[in-house]
Parts: sequence; structure tokens; C-alpha cells
Amino acid sequence: MQVILIAILSLITFAAYLLIIKPLVPLLLLKIKLGEKAIFMFYPLSGFIGVFMKSIKSNHDVMHTINNALRKNPSAKVILSNYLNKPCIMLTGSEYIKDTYLDHHDFEKINPFMIPSFIQKGLVMSEGESWKRQRKFLGSAFTFEKLKSRLPMMNQVVQQIAEKDNKSHLNDFMSRITGEIVIKSFFGELAEGFQLEGKDAQVALIQLTGEISIMHMENIYIFIKSLLFEERMWEIFPCKKEKEIVQRVDNVRTKIKEMIQKRIEQLRENPIQDQDKMVFLDLYVTEYLKQQGQKEQQIDIEEILHQFITLFFAGTDTTATTSGTCLYYLAQYPEIQNEILEEIQQVIGQNDIKEEHLNKLIKTNALIQEVLRLRNPAFTTLFRTVKHDKQVRDIKLKKGWAIVQMQNSSSIQDNHFESALEFNYKRWLKKENVIKNDNGFIHIPFAAGPRNCIGQHMALMEAKIIIALILRNYKIIINPQVSQIKFGVKFLQCVEPDNCLVFQKRI
Ligand code: HEM
Repeated sequence: MQVILIAILSLITFAAYLLIIKPLVPLLLLKIKLGEKAIFMFYPLSGFIGVFMKSIKSNHDVMHTINNALRKNPSAKVILSNYLNKPCIMLTGSEYIKDTYLDHHDFEKINPFMIPSFIQKGLVMSEGESWKRQRKFLGSAFTFEKLKSRLPMMNQVVQQIAEKDNKSHLNDFMSRITGEIVIKSFFGELAEGFQLEGKDAQVALIQLTGEISIMHMENIYIFIKSLLFEERMWEIFPCKKEKEIVQRVDNVRTKIKEMIQKRIEQLRENPIQDQDKMVFLDLYVTEYLKQQGQKEQQIDIEEILHQFITLFFAGTDTTATTSGTCLYYLAQYPEIQNEILEEIQQVIGQNDIKEEHLNKLIKTNALIQEVLRLRNPAFTTLFRTVKHDKQVRDIKLKKGWAIVQMQNSSSIQDNHFESALEFNYKRWLKKENVIKNDNGFIHIPFAAGPRNCIGQHMALMEAKIIIALILRNYKIIINPQVSQIKFGVKFLQCVEPDNCLVFQKRI
């Protein structure tokens, strides 16, 4: 009996050491060293996720706790928290964010899906030479010049979905639009009638990627397993839900591979010569076929598959939530809705949005910038692991620690923006001095440095088209049946509940 008791006590002591003492001691030492420059937010087990979840629960706002702490202590440069049993350094000072963006090779992104067969080989997750090659290859396809040929498709998708879709769930409605745009940008005509899991492909992929991201937060067993075992979690005592996800990922992969294979055969028979007519898949397949005749085959079908899922994951919900949040603010401030509508009617009338209209939608652009300043869906970057001991200014980061860049931390400080917490889209209409004390890393909703967002032009184009075409046809109001609207998180920061807005057809 005594032996069992000693064994249990030893186990508890060991767990307490591993989960509490081990991460806590270096964080305390860092706090002592940094003083006012560091805010302490250590929570055993739940760590940074606990900070966000408590903030939603008590203030209906995922960012309230952190923003409040940062405003109370504007000299803070970091938040000291934990990623289960690892110290987690949340960088808030723009100089620290800048240094880690520039030295990106020293940090390895943690795969948010933890499924290596889905996005690991795509641009978001790849590293070193493979990342460099992919970034160069895709970079030319994401320039404004290349993207503008997609404008007619974007107009058509927004109009069709807005016409036929059920609009009672804001985030679903928005992501059906942005999901279809990514799929059509990638697969082109091949995307017509593209089904996965018996549903339209974008609906199935949104559900699947959403379920994978959210299950880590909702299921404590899966959450702890993912932190402890990372990508091996799926093999270690998988629960029913995990088995189901693995099976669904396998099925989706098979279907997408078939589509890629089909295009390979088509382009082998009839190659396309004009680069401007190529969708992303054609660019990849053309290069794939070219490399088949060469010594080194760098691109394989697996990479093309991962790139598709990567662009879908990175480009769908981000743009959807940004557009959805813009619509929420328009409903919240009807006078702003009238101002933006007036601009839309003046610039495009009843026409589709064409290249020459984009720069003239000045107020619409200001609205998007204000939403990205205050309510960026990407409120943190992906979490990273420190690859080796590294000095970042006055902080010595240890190998294995987690870091994350809180790229919107400066946005809520009055020394950078006048009345920083106020939603005032008109600040972006001023010609000068919008951002005070700017070092180039203050307003960076799309991150900065070599690994910034490759899809930012596409995102802004889409958001403008979505806002303009929807507002032209619908008056947007807050659903009177919803008593509490909050800024929650579904992997990304978003307005909740889903039925918070009502779309009234304009006559
Ligand atoms: C408003 C919408 C968007 C926002 C706020 C946004 C934000 C970001 C941010 C903050 C990063 C850096 C992530 C990190 O380092 O952890 C990023 C990277 C990336 N984004 Fe976006 N994004 C948006 C839309 C898009 C779109 C439409 C696409 C493509 C279809 C896209 C593709 C990517 C890719 C591939 C990367 C990784 C780049 C690299 O590592 O080289 N994003 N985005």
C-alpha cells in the first residue's frame, strides 16, 4: 500500500515538475530580467489558449485580455506564457517581431492540422531550399498583373453565391464564396461540378479543415495529445473522431490526386503555351511535365496536392472572415454603410468590378484596412518552435521553446494610432500621418519580411468585390434576435454567433 502511495506521489511530483516547474522557472527568470518589458500570463496546462478562452468568456472578445494588458503597459515587448509544458514567448514589440520575421530560418512553424499528409509540403509549412523554390515559383502567379485576369471569375462567383445561398450563417456564406474562388483559381474549368465527400468541394473542405482545427481546442484529450506528440498523435490511441478524420483526409487526397492526374494527361496531349491563360494547376503541371524530361524532378504530385490544400487553408477563411467582419461593422454603423454604398454606386454603378475600379474604391479599401487593424482574423501568426538557442535583442530564446508574433499589438496603442481603440475607417482617408512612430512593422496584417502573405493582393481584390457586390444588393442589419455579439475564434478571429447579420434585399 505504502509503495503504491509513494509511486502515485512520485508520479504527481514528476507531472507537476514537467507541466509547471519546468516551463515556469525560465519564464520567471525572464520576467525578472525584462521587468516592465514583459507581461506574465502563465497558466498551467491551458497556457495561451486559456488566455484567449477566458477572454471570450468574460469579455466576449478574444483579444480583450491581451489588448487591455498591453494598453496598461505600453512599454511591454513580450507576453510570457506557455504552450502546455513549453515556455511560449508571445512577441508584441514591433522591433522583436521584425527581427524574428527577418531571421525566419531559425524558427519552425508548428503544423496547425498536425496531419503531415495535408499541407506539410506546401508553401506555408515548407522550409529552406524547398520554401525558396516554391515561393519563387508561385510568386509570379500572385502579382497584381497576373491576378487581374481572375476578376471576371471573382465577380461571377460572388454574384452567383450571393443570389442562391442561404445567408443565415455569416462565416459559412462568406467562406463558400472565398473557397470557390480559391478552387477556381487553382483548378480552373476542372473545378466545375467538383465534389468531395458528396458535397460541393469547397463546402466539404471548409468543413473538414474547420473540424480539424477546432477539435484541438474543443477536445481536451486531442488537445493534450497534439501538444505532447504533435504529428504522431494520430497513431497513439486514436479516438473515434481521430480515426474518422484520418479516413476522410485519405479519401479527399485520393480524389484530388485523380484531378491532378487528369490534368497531367490533358496537358501532356495538349500543352498550353500562353502563361496568362494558366490557372495555378496548369503552371504546376506544365513545370512537372517539363521536369520529367530533365535530370531532377523537384515537383511531384504530392507537392501539387499539398499546395492546393495550403492555398485553400491560407486563402479561404482568412478572406472570408475579413469580409464578414467588414459587413458586421457596416451593420453596426449604418451611416458608414451609406457612405460606402454611395461610393460603390458612383464607381461601379450596376457593372461588374473591373481593374480600373479597384483603386477608385477608396472608402471600401479604408474600411478593409480598419478591420485588418482592429480585427485581423490572423490575430497571431502560426506558432513556431525555436530551432536552436538564439538571442533576439535582450531575450535568450532556448531551443524547443514556442514563439508567436502578435502582429497587431501596435495597432491598439495610442502612440501609433490616434484613439487607437476607436473604429474609424476615415483615418485611412487622410493623406499623411495615419501611423505615428512607424518603423514599417506597425500595421502589418499580412505579416512582413520574406515569409509575408503571398496572397495579399488576391485577398484585397476579393474583399472589395464581396463588399461592393453584396452591399449594392442588400441592406445589412444586425439580427434583432441576437442579444450578444462577440469576437470569438474558430482558429481565426471572427464575429459570432453565425446568425448575427440579416441581409435585406434592396428594391
Ligand atoms: C485577409 C486575408 C488574409 C490575411 C489576413 C492573411 C494573413 C497572412 C499572414 C499573417 C501570414 C503569415 C503567417 C505566418 O507566418 O504564420 C500569411 C501567409 C501566407 N498566406 Fe495569407 N492571408 C490572407 C489571405 C491569403 C490568400 C487569399 C492566400 C492565397 C490564396 C494566402 C496565402 C498565404 C500563404 C501561401 C502564406 C505563406 C507564405 C510563406 O510562408 O511564404 N493568404 N497570410
